[in-house]
Order: sequence, then C-alpha cells, then structure tokens
Amino acid sequence: MRQKNNSEKMLLILVFLSGSVLWARGNGEKSAIPENLLVIPPLLEYKTASDGTREYELTIIEGTSRFFPDKNTPTLGYNGNILGPTIRVRENDRILVKLKNTLDEPTTLHWHGAHVPAQMDGGPLQAVAPGETWEPFFTIRQPAATLWYHPHLMGTTAEQVYRGLAGLLIIDDEHSDSLPLPDEYGINDIPLITQEREFLNDKTFRYRPSRPDLMHGYFGNALLVNGTLEPEFPVREDLLRFRILNGSNSTVLRYFFEDNSTFYQIATDGGFLAAPVPLQSLVLSPGERAEILVDFTTLKKGESRIFQGETNGGQIYRILNLPVEVKSNRGYKIPETLGVSYEPVVTAGLPKRQFVLSSMGMGGNLTINGRRMNMNRVDERIPRGQQEVWEIINQGMGMMNLPHSFHVHDIQFQIIDINGSPPPHHLKGPKDTVLLWPGDRIKILVRFDDYLGKYMYHCHFLEHEDQGMMGVLEVINRNDS
Ligand code: C2O
Ligand code: CU
Ligand code: CU
Repeated sequence: MRQKNNSEKMLLILVFLSGSVLWARGNGEKSAIPENLLVIPPLLEYKTASDGTREYELTIIEGTSRFFPDKNTPTLGYNGNILGPTIRVRENDRILVKLKNTLDEPTTLHWHGAHVPAQMDGGPLQAVAPGETWEPFFTIRQPAATLWYHPHLMGTTAEQVYRGLAGLLIIDDEHSDSLPLPDEYGINDIPLITQEREFLNDKTFRYRPSRPDLMHGYFGNALLVNGTLEPEFPVREDLLRFRILNGSNSTVLRYFFEDNSTFYQIATDGGFLAAPVPLQSLVLSPGERAEILVDFTTLKKGESRIFQGETNGGQIYRILNLPVEVKSNRGYKIPETLGVSYEPVVTAGLPKRQFVLSSMGMGGNLTINGRRMNMNRVDERIPRGQQEVWEIINQGMGMMNLPHSFHVHDIQFQIIDINGSPPPHHLKGPKDTVLLWPGDRIKILVRFDDYLGKYMYHCHFLEHEDQGMMGVLEVINRNDS
C-alpha cells in the first residue's frame, strides 16, 4: 500500500472536509486517496426554500469502488460510488429529500430510527419505481442522535444494502450543543459505518447468498469501514468521539481496542445515555448504533491504538488504525453526566403484547408470532399515545439456534428487562433495535405518538427480514380501538 507522510494526510483530511472532491474512489481513475486512509462521508449540502425547508438531493449511482490495486468492484451509492453522504440536521428542522431512483429496479429510502409520518417512513409500502423521484418531507421531532438511512424494499433490502446503499442521518439539538463533547465532524467526531463483506476470488464482492446463508445470514471475509478496507485515521492527542453503525447484513460485531483500553459509551441508537458508561467492549447487531468517547490524551505522538471488531463467527478484523499524529489538545474530558435521565418505569397495569421470533422448521421458516410478512395484513393495531410493554422472545429451538433482533419503526423504545434483570447501563438509552440471542426474553416499553398509519417491525438481520421476518403495525386513534 502506498504510504503518505503526515502532512499529506492532514491535507487530504482538510480536502475531504471542504466537501468538494474525492468521495469514494471509483471508475478506475487514479485517486488522491491512499488505499489505507479512512474516508469520511461528506456532509450533504442543502438549499433552503423560501419557507425555511432544507432541501436535499440523493441520487443513486451505479458506480465502482476499488479495494485492491487494479481491481474494481461494482457498488451502489447515493451521490457517489459507495454509501451516501451524511445528512446532518437539527431538531425542529423541516426537511425535504429528493431521492432519484436511477436503478432499473424499485427501491425505497427508509429513515431508520426517525420519528416521521408513516407515508414518509420509506418502508416496504413506499416503493420508488425505476426512474422515479420520491420526495419525502418531515419535521425533525426528536432529540440529538445518530440515525441512518437505507433501502427497505420487500425482498431486496439485503442486496441493495450489501451493494453499498446506506448513509448516516445525524441530529443535533440545543442539548447536544451544550454538552462539552467533541463535535467537529470528521476531525474529532468520526462516523464509522462498519460492514462485513465477502470478497470472492476475483477480489470483488457481489450479493449471492446460498440457501444456508439465507438462514444463518450472509457473512464475509473482510470488514469495510466507511467503504474503506483496513483504513488508518491519524488522530489528535485528545478525546475522540466515534459514531458507530453496524451496517452489516447479518453479522453481529463486538467492538474493542487491541490493547483492551477502556472507552466510554455516551449514546445508544436514539440519543444520549444518562452518563458515560465505561466499557472494554461493545456489541452491536445489524442496524444498531453507539457513540463512544476514546481518550487519546495519554498517548504520545507516534503511538497508536487499533480498533477491532470480532464477528459472532469468531473472525477478528482490524477496523481502524489510530496513530496519534497531531498534538492539539482541546481539553475535553469525559463528562460526569450527559444531562438526561431515564426514570425507573412502573409497568404494572400497562397493556402487553408478545412477539415470538422463531427460526423453526427444516424449510427454514423465519416467523414472528408464527407468521411471515404480508404487506396487505395489519398484525398489530396500537392506539396512539398508549404506553405498552412488549415482550420479545427469541425461541431458540434445537438445531436452529439463531440470533435475531427486533427493530421498530417510528419510535425509540426503552429496554426494561433482559431475561429477568434490568438492562446494563449502556442499554438504558433510547433504542430502536435490540439483539436477542437464542432463548433471550426482552421487555421493552413503547409508545407511538403524533402520527397514525402503518409502520414495520422486524428482525434487522437483512437476510431474515427479506424472507419475511417482519410484521405491519398500525397506529390508530384511541377511540377506534
Ligand atoms: Cu433499518 Cu425497517 O429498518
Ligand atoms: Cu427502521
Ligand atoms: Cu432474525
């Protein structure tokens, strides 16, 4: 691999941040990005309409990406060759996104973790035909968080995501502004989209799962980080914040530093924790996010740390090499608290529902409550504004002991019980996706506010989701129930 000296690297970082060029190497051209430097997805620019709406444009590109010398892989991206730009908005912003589907197949654009009207959600019910432009608009009505967007068409989500379609949606608010946390995007506030991929003998990746892969999930032999392979990111001798997304199809990842150094989780899927939680390792299933702080102030220039990921298959990947190259301490400290609190919940007397995730049967039937997805059916009707306790059970059965997860659209929920115990501190923040190992029983507290209409709940292992491990819920008026 071609090496750059430090000043060249820093210059490249500045070039990325200016947002002008060089997103995702592609089309076989010589590129200024060394193979091993972390790519930071650019922030998506917007136009402000006369009524104040921020207008964004996303166009799907059938491009190519280069992970090995002289080897191009066909990939998909929004506005680029792979992945998509980061959309960064504030609470109360009104936004409009124009998605142009240039593919010769339908797609959708789903706002994972976002509280948006049902028609804007971009789930399987909002297909965008080839050549069409879809223009969802909504107001951001939720606190600061790291969310993401991805296609969600019934049956082809796994393939479209695998080929490269995914991006981050970051929300800021007054509270996040007020916290003394690193927040310079791409400098000390670093997005990390981690995705396992399988490079074939010809050094390209394509989506071609076998039948067993559809059951166990489509895994791989390499980990892409922001669409880069084994990248390096020169850091300051300072506190660093990572926003981590496990964007893999079905790979559960455990994140840790090679030297086992402690880091601090500050946010879950949908927002801040009450206080930073010290951890040596952190598990995310597909779709889950975490924000962490890492202290580099004890390292000297020239020293480095290696961030790693271990899959549930036991494979260990290098995620990121982090050499300390700039002496520039901004004086950030791990804060004592993050200024939010999550009250202990009284759940007695609340309405209950149960969701049994099952991977039974030789035919590989993946079901929720014994059913597979039917877009024309409503599985659950939920009165708006009603607090409920949902129990999710991963029915581990004989040979088919598969992990699953449970993701709900439109809301953030609170985990109240895992196998009879309260959740660990780092799972006490707002969540939209939760992992269940075989046999796990998890209780969550849910409430759907503001919007009526149909949303999805499903296992977020994309191979499972595509095979129908999903249901439709409808938020209804209290009086109609
Ligand atoms: Cu990330 Cu229903 O999806
Ligand atoms: Cu979602
Ligand atoms: Cu599953």
